[in-house]
Amino acid sequence: MAFPESFIYELKARNDISEVISNYISLKRRGRNRVGLCPFHGEKTPSFNVYDDHFYCFGCGASGDVISFVMKIENLDYLDAVRFLAQRAGMEVPDNSYDNSMNNLRKRIFEANREAARFYYRTLTSPEGRVGLDYFRRRMLTDATIRHFGLGYAPDSWTALSDYLIGKGFKPDELIAANLSVKRRSGKGVIDRFRGRVMFPIIDLRGNVIAFGGRIMTNEKPKYLNSSDTPVFKKSENLFSLNNAKNTGSRALLLCEGYMDVISVNQAGFQNAVASLGTALTSEQASLMKRYADEIVICYDADEAGQKATARAIPLLRDAGLNIRVLSIPNGKDPDEFIKSKGADGPAAFKAIIEASGNDVDYRLQKLRADFNLSTSEGRVGYLEACAKLIADIKSPIERDIYVSKLSKKFEVDKNALNLQINNLSNRNKREDRRREMRKIRSELNGTNDKIDKERHTKLRSTSAEESLLAHLINNPDSLKAIKQYISAEDFQNSLMKRYFEYFSGRIESGLDPLNNIAADFSDDERSRMYQILSKYSGISQTPQSLYENIRIIKAESERPKNTADMTGEDISKLFANMKKNKK
Ligand code: GTP
Ligand code: MN
Repeated sequence: MAFPESFIYELKARNDISEVISNYISLKRRGRNRVGLCPFHGEKTPSFNVYDDHFYCFGCGASGDVISFVMKIENLDYLDAVRFLAQRAGMEVPDNSYDNSMNNLRKRIFEANREAARFYYRTLTSPEGRVGLDYFRRRMLTDATIRHFGLGYAPDSWTALSDYLIGKGFKPDELIAANLSVKRRSGKGVIDRFRGRVMFPIIDLRGNVIAFGGRIMTNEKPKYLNSSDTPVFKKSENLFSLNNAKNTGSRALLLCEGYMDVISVNQAGFQNAVASLGTALTSEQASLMKRYADEIVICYDADEAGQKATARAIPLLRDAGLNIRVLSIPNGKDPDEFIKSKGADGPAAFKAIIEASGNDVDYRLQKLRADFNLSTSEGRVGYLEACAKLIADIKSPIERDIYVSKLSKKFEVDKNALNLQINNLSNRNKREDRRREMRKIRSELNGTNDKIDKERHTKLRSTSAEESLLAHLINNPDSLKAIKQYISAEDFQNSLMKRYFEYFSGRIESGLDPLNNIAADFSDDERSRMYQILSKYSGISQTPQSLYENIRIIKAESERPKNTADMTGEDISKLFANMKKNKK
């Protein structure tokens, strides 16, 4: 990677990692570290740790240095993250220093997507796209709306877009990577992924076209086809129209189910609408919304699927720290149908139901009623117990009190009795929360690093010593010479640890900071594993004794298959004697 080391070094020095991260989440000091709620997954208790030069989340395994943090949170590639930080620190980025095939591919995909969006839009307004335009008009979209969202039409042809883009110099492989084309099942060549559909471009926060959704205009299936994940698009981490919604300055977002809802709602005058992209809402999407909003109005369909999706979304949004309101749309409609059904009064009617929407607790208390027969005492007891369960989940005591008061008035029951019930449940909840979170941390930690380092399970003893030695080496680069007197890379049993050792010792020997360039030189998973190790040993002071012990174990494990007996007794005392001599 072609940035000069000295540049990256200064870039990091001038962008203090906890300062940068503090712009996104609030951090509290804990011992030598700072901790906060992880911005990359939903959690209630902080497991996101920021150290002097890196961050690590014990919940989801997210990790890296300040550059990787910016890449992740701003959804930027390496080069743009470096530019971002350089600008923040008032530094100039060295020219022509960048040449990386992955980032070139990303750039090509952005370009291909942009060209494709133009092509679809042009086609929509051509005779060939007439069916698409008629369709949008039937759905009451104005020309201004169509233009604003860059809607388009993918011709009903096998290769129209592919031919066009290849004519513009794009390679078939690039189009496949962009998921604009797919390989022909038989033999060579590519065909268009989207055919005979009206098209909705998905645009990221910086204005790049990152993906498409396409709707068929008949009853064929699938109704909507979306781009698969590509190097520039992760469905679970993006929201349709957030690029528009983030600029309204309202700190509230209207969360819809689909493209057409967002567009209709926009046309009715509400620009702060977004949609998760055809899948269940994810915690990443919730965290993303939290960056631009404090309140979410859930505007899902009134049908059963929509209500199920609402029930699933509420805890995710709560965990992200968002206030929630739930829109109730009359007559089982979706926002688009509702607005249309009101004709010219659509915007005003929609505004009215937004203003009438209750918060999520009101919504759930209301929903619960359907499960009980409130005209009997038994039914009322059952209902109140179910309410107590729900209220026990609420963290704020003031908020809890509001619902307790309401219920006790309405059902003429003693407030204290309700409170007692709630407190018992709430204590049990807290214990279960803690247990669940611990379980999650454990399984996610294993999951994250299993992919990249399977050997750690079969080579427990050596891996643990090798980890500890690497952590020591990185914190004390000067110890490399001493370490190398006893062991070399060949002694490492875990092949990933061996690679780390070769990499770090190479850098130290060239007089470089071991971690300076890790964002560029390792994959996400490899980096995550490395930072997991550093986090594990952070704050644990490693004594010369523990270092020697690790060297001894590594050596022993390295020689074990050949001759176990050799590494006991005399040899070890010799090794120790040598080490002590060397220390002086
Ligand atoms: P219209 O029928 O055009 O009004 O769309 P809608 O938004 O009312 O559709 P629906 O409520 O059925 O779906 C909501 C969202 O789910 C859509 O906007 C899509 O993002 C997604 N979706 C719907 N059908 C499909 C499908 O067949 N495949 C995929 N991948 N996503 C779908
Ligand atoms: Mn609809």
